[in-house]
Amino acid sequence: MIVLMAKKQQIVAATWGVRSCFQSLLALLVALLFIAAVYLTQNIGQSVLVVHDTITSTTNPGDQCNMFSGKWVFDNESYPLYKEQHCTFMSDQSACEKFGRKDLSYQFWRWQPHQCDLPRFNATALLEKLRNKRLVFVGDSLNRGQWVSMVCLVDSSIPPSLKSMHHNGSLITFKALEYNASIEFYWAPLLVESNSDDPVNHRVPDRIVRVQAIEKHARHWTDADILVFNSYLWWRRSQMKVLWGSFDSSDGIHKNVTMPRVYEMALRTWSDWLEVNINPNKTQMFFMSMSPTHQSSEEWGGAANGNCYSETEAITTDGYWGRDSNPKFIEIVESVSGDLRKRGVNVTMINITQLSEYRKEGHPSIYRKQWEALTEEEISNPSSYADCIHWCLPGVPDAWNELLYAYIFQQ
Ligand SMILES: *[C@@H]1O[C@H](CO)[C@@H](O)[C@H](O)[C@H]1NC(C)=O
Ligand SMILES: *[C@@H]1O[C@H](CO)[C@@H](O)[C@H](O)[C@H]1NC(C)=O
Ligand SMILES: *[C@@H]1O[C@H](CO)[C@@H](O)[C@H](O)[C@H]1NC(C)=O
Ligand SMILES: *[C@@H]1O[C@H](CO)[C@@H](O)[C@H](O)[C@H]1NC(C)=O
Ligand SMILES: *[C@@H]1O[C@H](CO)[C@@H](O)[C@H](O)[C@H]1NC(C)=O
Ligand SMILES: *[C@@H]1O[C@H](CO)[C@@H](O)[C@H](O)[C@H]1NC(C)=O
Ligand SMILES: *[C@@H]1O[C@H](CO)[C@@H](O)[C@H](O)[C@H]1NC(C)=O
Ligand SMILES: *[C@@H]1O[C@H](CO)[C@@H](O)[C@H](O)[C@H]1NC(C)=O
Repeated sequence: MIVLMAKKQQIVAATWGVRSCFQSLLALLVALLFIAAVYLTQNIGQSVLVVHDTITSTTNPGDQCNMFSGKWVFDNESYPLYKEQHCTFMSDQSACEKFGRKDLSYQFWRWQPHQCDLPRFNATALLEKLRNKRLVFVGDSLNRGQWVSMVCLVDSSIPPSLKSMHHNGSLITFKALEYNASIEFYWAPLLVESNSDDPVNHRVPDRIVRVQAIEKHARHWTDADILVFNSYLWWRRSQMKVLWGSFDSSDGIHKNVTMPRVYEMALRTWSDWLEVNINPNKTQMFFMSMSPTHQSSEEWGGAANGNCYSETEAITTDGYWGRDSNPKFIEIVESVSGDLRKRGVNVTMINITQLSEYRKEGHPSIYRKQWEALTEEEISNPSSYADCIHWCLPGVPDAWNELLYAYIFQQ
């Protein structure tokens, strides 16, 4: 592959130099060579594209192939990457086996891109990479799930006495002490300030967002070495109340702003902050695209009134896309980060939406901790309280982290 790529580059370079009367003949030759190169590349395909097992790999997965286009492959030899009950810091929101799920097939799926293989996740290599560094996930409960997955992925490589977990307000810090490496989560479901910023009590009926204010959050992670953002689900409503002014004073101005305009306003604030306060030479930045939900089985041809409850198989329809994933939000993230890139700050979008869309069976449904006692009515109709938003672990967010891992080592 590397050789073929080099050839292609030479060919491309050659086309620029063609000036003589042999121009058309040469062009034809070049075209033939090019077709041959492409043909070879496609035919040798997967076997040529290196399995990046080590950090010394010089290949660049993002350049070679679209890692987000692929399929789920059943693989109970290599997966799950860790055992639910062995992860010291597993969350009760994701521990589906612990909360009674019997069908465990959701743990055995590997994301297989069509054109290449993902690097094998190597916890030691990641910890080495994070030595004296901070990796910070910033966002909502989906991002927190991904953070838990990341902690579980490295957890078994670290002896008990050499790790710690520390809560301080909105920030939770996992530390691998021997490496002085931090893997942290910062609760900011809307990225900018809002009245849902309390890490525990954030269920407020009337959501208010300060679209122009982010510093209260951002000062906790501005010096991080790797930042992983997300924000989508909390914006899924037709409008949001915006506050210009402070939560503490009474003279603020409130206005309802429609979606997705208000989302864009918030992301502009976020990107302005990054431009001014982040050193792009030091910090790698990623934005996770929206995590899909499976709240209505009609969407995938299932029963009316059903949802992800009792689903045991993934969707196999290529390109399946649920109603709840609004592509406009991805477009906004792309447009905002595109503008930011022009100003010298790169945020890489990790496009997990499509691959997660297929996994209707990957949610906890009823197999997670219930924070409030269930009513008789709920118990008699389990799908009424099924969680079809978050994900079981081990599971889908591990694949998100495998993609993140590939990018961390690529850059
Ligand atoms: C995300 O990946 C899927 C699968 O390759 C693709 O269809 C979709 O267009 C991608 N979206 C973005 C915004 O890149
Ligand atoms: C993997 O699954 C296959 C088919 O279900 C089964 O025969 C085999 O024993 C499983 N292997 C492991 C290691 O669980
Ligand atoms: C994982 O990474 C470490 C450190 O780079 C390396 O020594 C080890 O061989 C790797 N393990 C595997 C299975 O590739
Ligand atoms: C430990 O890591 C932090 C970043 O999390 C860094 O600021 C600090 O300098 C590191 N300590 C040492 C002794 O290198
Ligand atoms: C918690 O974080 C604040 C800064 O946000 C810091 O001043 C304080 O020392 C931290 N507390 C602990 C116990 O780490
Ligand atoms: C915003 O919309 C809500 C719901 O439609 C309404 O109750 C409220 O009065 C509106 N607030 C403002 C400031 O317009
Ligand atoms: C980043 O590195 C480039 C090239 O080394 C340098 O020109 C630029 O000033 C650096 N930017 C910052 C913010 O340090
Ligand atoms: C940002 O990405 C562009 C191309 O994707 C690259 O040329 C540039 O060097 C990157 N800048 C930084 C600071 O990494």
